[in-house]
Amino acid sequence: MGGGGVDRGPTLTLHPVDGESMKTHRIVTIPGDGIGPEVVEAAVRVLRRAQEIDAGFTLEFEEHDGGAGCYARIGTALSVDSVQACRDADAVLKGPVGLPSARLADGTEAGLLGGILRLGLDLYANVRPILLWPGVRSALAAAPGEIDYVIVRENTEGLYLSRGRGVGNDDVMTDTLMVTRRGVERIARFAFETALKRRGAPSDGRTRVTCVDKSNVLRSFGLFRRVFQEVGEAYPTVEKDFLYADAAAQALVQTPQRFDVLVMENFLGDILSDLGGGTVGGIGMCPSGNIGENAAYFEPVHGSAPDIAGRGFANPCAQILSAAMLLDHVGETGAAGLIRRAVGAALSDGTLVIGDAGRPTGGGRAAAEAVLDRLGP
Ligand code: IPM
Ligand code: MN
Repeated sequence: MGGGGVDRGPTLTLHPVDGESMKTHRIVTIPGDGIGPEVVEAAVRVLRRAQEIDAGFTLEFEEHDGGAGCYARIGTALSVDSVQACRDADAVLKGPVGLPSARLADGTEAGLLGGILRLGLDLYANVRPILLWPGVRSALAAAPGEIDYVIVRENTEGLYLSRGRGVGNDDVMTDTLMVTRRGVERIARFAFETALKRRGAPSDGRTRVTCVDKSNVLRSFGLFRRVFQEVGEAYPTVEKDFLYADAAAQALVQTPQRFDVLVMENFLGDILSDLGGGTVGGIGMCPSGNIGENAAYFEPVHGSAPDIAGRGFANPCAQILSAAMLLDHVGETGAAGLIRRAVGAALSDGTLVIGDAGRPTGGGRAAAEAVLDRLGP
């Protein structure tokens, strides 16, 4: 630290105190549709507070229009400039998008960004932690800590590669599920690397990656399993586990504590991650990351819930926890931990209560305040 030769004396922070050596992370925000703007606003407030407390980095925010409202306004769910901004940013915090009214000619939703961002930026890993937080009632007879696994969903191929490409007519329609060696290699590697950073499954502490597929029925899944096994040879310390997707759905309900990391094809991951959300108080508690080699965005697993938009009911937890994942991604793991601890503290001491409908009983604003309070002044 330079400081112009001035002896600053002992300091209480371990972080650089002179502005020049302070890291700056450029964050693009996309508030999205429905409840998106309110939950993104809450998450940005939490990020700013975490940054202030950590004092070791700076966040620069740049907001971009995106989603169904954007589609209605300019004819595309995300402008070319905004895609470029997402590519150039250090990370993107995206709110939920989509409105039932915004449809393409084929009946699918027009305001979604999955095709543009996940495929367009090649964000092949969709990371979905499923964690039962203290104070949150599970639909299962599970205690906090007993459900703690990560679904690693392949995000660029599988059945959803057929998005907008279904072939047929009014009587017959087909969508094709494609699995490639390269696609499985990289998602399997990502899953093993994710497992190595964790503490193992709650039931036995074993570091385990479960490959979920339907290789008993479809050849594409046979390739998925074979390539997973090949990649797994480079990870001798990680236990490999195999489940057909139907059996996995049952096991995620009956014995969730045996899971650590699960890896699966896109469509299966979409469905099973919502199932997982249903066991931890709802997808209103579930954050996610879409991560590639050169870009990443973080978003709640839930949708835009236009029916409750602006009414103050929305649960900001998934968006706030997505912001924590974003901080991890840009290397600010300390600040990410602060946010998670604040969420955990607010839930534990009952200042933040998640009701049966997955909504905070005191409203979304009070929920955000509870997290901000626990973060500190
Ligand atoms: C999700 C969503 C999206 C998906 C939709 C909105 C396209 O359900 O992120 O899970 O299917 O991937
Ligand atoms: Mn989904």
